[in-house]
Amino acid sequence: MKNVGLVGWRGMVGSVLMQRMIEERDFDVVRPVFFSTSQHGQAAPEFAGQSAGTLQDAFDIEALKALDIIITCQGGDYTNEVYPKLRASGWQGYWIDAASSLRMNDDAIIILDPVNHHVIRQGLDNGIKTFVGGNCTVSLMLMSLGGLFANDLVEWASVATYQAASGGGARHMRELLSQMGMLHNHVAKELENPASAILDIERKVTEMSRAGVLPVDNFGVPLAGSLIPWIDKQLENGQSREEWKGQAETNKILQPASTIPVDGLCVRVGALRCHSQAFTLKLKKDVPLSEIEQLLAAHNDWVKVVPNDREITMRELTPAAVTGTLNTPVGRLRKLNMGPDYLSAFTVGDQLLWGAAEPLRRMLRLLVD
Ligand code: HSE
Repeated sequence: MKNVGLVGWRGMVGSVLMQRMIEERDFDVVRPVFFSTSQHGQAAPEFAGQSAGTLQDAFDIEALKALDIIITCQGGDYTNEVYPKLRASGWQGYWIDAASSLRMNDDAIIILDPVNHHVIRQGLDNGIKTFVGGNCTVSLMLMSLGGLFANDLVEWASVATYQAASGGGARHMRELLSQMGMLHNHVAKELENPASAILDIERKVTEMSRAGVLPVDNFGVPLAGSLIPWIDKQLENGQSREEWKGQAETNKILQPASTIPVDGLCVRVGALRCHSQAFTLKLKKDVPLSEIEQLLAAHNDWVKVVPNDREITMRELTPAAVTGTLNTPVGRLRKLNMGPDYLSAFTVGDQLLWGAAEPLRRMLRLLVD
């Protein structure tokens, strides 16, 4: 059995990863070693189903060197600090990372095996040892629209995202919920009275959200009752870094013969952990909608084509319906007024599952099965 080091298993993505590893009995096929950046020496968690001893020091290069595989959800700062030292020490093991730091390195592969299994296999054959999870919006787009990309039908994709608070981290989710609660409390009495004037209620809410009293340490501005049309850093060309990742990572994952343009606007909304995305796709040719639906549905086990019907869409194509599941539904499929090779699509996916944890544990299974 391979010795597998787990770093950052207690955080939000790490917790989802542990949950999935328990569900899929991954701990039955590896020998886990749990690491901590702050609590080494304490007891390792029980959930692995076997005594994993004590927590090891996540900065101890000698301890890390003893591992065949390391999976980290600890974040980019940890990767930047530890990975170069570990490789410089001559360590030849497999590094599986949720953070973005190493994603675009030439000697790293972005992992999303239902989409790029062939790229991963080829990388393994060529001795690649570093595997990194993709940006959540990119991974979720490719899980939902993979059938179009796999059949080389996409000339370009324009996207508007509706990204959940969890993409920022656990503290961001708490902040959103606190904002929601404070706004509600502020008008709770008026809401109970059906005769109260809605515009008075709205004015009170708006005044409160502008008064500087809501917690905004993480988002910088109120998100509850609002949205934020900027995610991640500002680049010199006017894109946000999140928008830049769309094309860069899509093409790194798929490795197409020529670059597929992907661009758009990334927006933070008050959803909790599902990212949604609205696409305009320029197809390379006019493919009948029924054929498009078949190609999409056949691509992987998790995508589901939601019929472009009001009732079904409202029931099935929302963050509330998809959260906590591995489903990556796609719907609102129709040809646009621009012409028969312009397609609209709307996708929803859990940002912590296929958007973060799931590709990591599946990479582990590829290495140990
Ligand atoms: N950058 C993403 C977001 C999350 O902020 O929603 C993870 O890829």
